[in-house]
Amino acid sequence: MRRKIAFVAALMLIAFTGLQFIRPKIKNPPVTADIQAPSNVEAILRRACYDCHSNETNLRWYDKIQPVYWQVAAHVNEGREGLNFSDWKNMAPAEQKAKLWESINQVIAGAMPVQNYVMVHPSAKLSKDDLVILKAYVSGMTPVNKPGDTAKINAQMQQLEQWQNAKFTIGKLPIALNGISYMPDYKNWQAISTTNRFDNGTLRVIFGNNIAVNAMKANNIHPWPNGTIFAKVAWDQVEDNEGNIKTGAFKQIEYMIKDDQKYASTMGWGFARFKTTKLIPYGKTALFATECVNCHRPQKDEDFVFTQPIKN
Ligand code: HEC
Ligand code: HEC
Repeated sequence: MRRKIAFVAALMLIAFTGLQFIRPKIKNPPVTADIQAPSNVEAILRRACYDCHSNETNLRWYDKIQPVYWQVAAHVNEGREGLNFSDWKNMAPAEQKAKLWESINQVIAGAMPVQNYVMVHPSAKLSKDDLVILKAYVSGMTPVNKPGDTAKINAQMQQLEQWQNAKFTIGKLPIALNGISYMPDYKNWQAISTTNRFDNGTLRVIFGNNIAVNAMKANNIHPWPNGTIFAKVAWDQVEDNEGNIKTGAFKQIEYMIKDDQKYASTMGWGFARFKTTKLIPYGKTALFATECVNCHRPQKDEDFVFTQPIKN
C-alpha cells in the first residue's frame, strides 16, 4: 500500500513538473500610447489594472506556477483585448471617456479587478477614496452640464415642437439588425431604476415589464426568467439657472429581452438600441450586440444585468 501511494505521488510530481513546461506565451509588447492622467489616477490603474490591461504585465513568481499560470495568461490576453491602457492614445477622446466610465462601473459592481486576482494580490483592491479619485477625474474631463445650456434647451424645444406637430408618429415599428423590434409599450411598464451618467450628461430611466417586476418581488433573478424585458431610456440632462437637473431631449432607448434559447449566442439576452426620435436601429451588422455583451459580461454573476433590486 505504502509503495502504491509513493508511486502515485511520484507520478503526480512528474505530471506537475511536466506541466510547468507547457506554457502559453505572455509577451509585453512596447508601450507606445500609454494613458496620461494625473499621477494619483495613474497610480491606481497601475496598481489594480495594469497586470491585465496594459503591456506592462508584471507576473510574480506565484503567478507563474501551473496550472494557475494558464488562467493568468487567459486573463491577460482577454483583458488586453477589451481595454489596454498602453494603447490608450490610439482611441478617440469620447471613446477614452466611455472606457473610463465603463471601468468605474465595473469596479463599483465588484467585477473588476477580477476577484480571484485580488485574493492573491490584495494591494489591487480599490478603496472608496480610489473610486472618488477616478470619478472626479472622469467627470472633470469636460464639464457636461452648464446652467441654462441653450443648445440643450433648444434641442428639447425642437423635439417638443415636432411632437406637438406629430411629425414623428411611428408607422411601422423599426427593427434592429438582429430582428428585435422597437416596443412602444415600455411606457406602461414599471420604472425600476434611474441613473445619471456623469461622463456624458444623460439621465436614464430603466423600465421592467411584468415578468421582470414579478421576478424582482420573488427574488427570482439568478437567472432572470425567460420573457423578462428591460428598457433603458436616455435623455439629455438639462440644468436650469438654479442648478436643478431635469430631462431634456430624448436620446435613445435600449432593450434587453431574456430568452436563453433564442439568444444563447449573446448570453441569453436579445439586445437592441434605437437612436433619436427617429428610432434609428443602432449598428452596421447584427454583430453590434457584441459591444453590448462585452460591457455587460463582467456582470455575469448577476445574469449580465447591472440594475439590482434594493437589498435589505
Ligand atoms: C487579473 C486580470 C484583470 C485585472 C487585474 C483587471 N481586469 Fe478588467 N478584465 C479582465 C478580463 C479577463 C476581462 C474580459 C472578460 C470579462 O469581462 O470578464 C476584463 C474586462 C474589463 C473591462 C471590459 C472591457 C471591454 O471589453 O469593454 C473593463 C472596463 C475592465 N476590465 C476594467 C478593469 C479595471 C478598471 C481594472 C482595475 C481596477 C481591471 N479591469 C483589472 C481581467 C482583469
Ligand atoms: C460602456 C458599457 C456598456 C455598453 C457598451 C452597453 N451597456 Fe447596457 N448598461 C451599462 C450599464 C453600466 C448599465 C446600468 C445602468 C446605467 O448605468 O445606466 C446598463 C444597463 C442596461 C440596461 C438595463 C438593464 C441592466 O443591465 O441594468 C439595458 C436594457 C441595456 N443596458 C442595454 C444595452 C444594449 C442594448 C447595449 C448595446 C447596444 C448596451 N446596453 C451596451 C453599460 C453598457
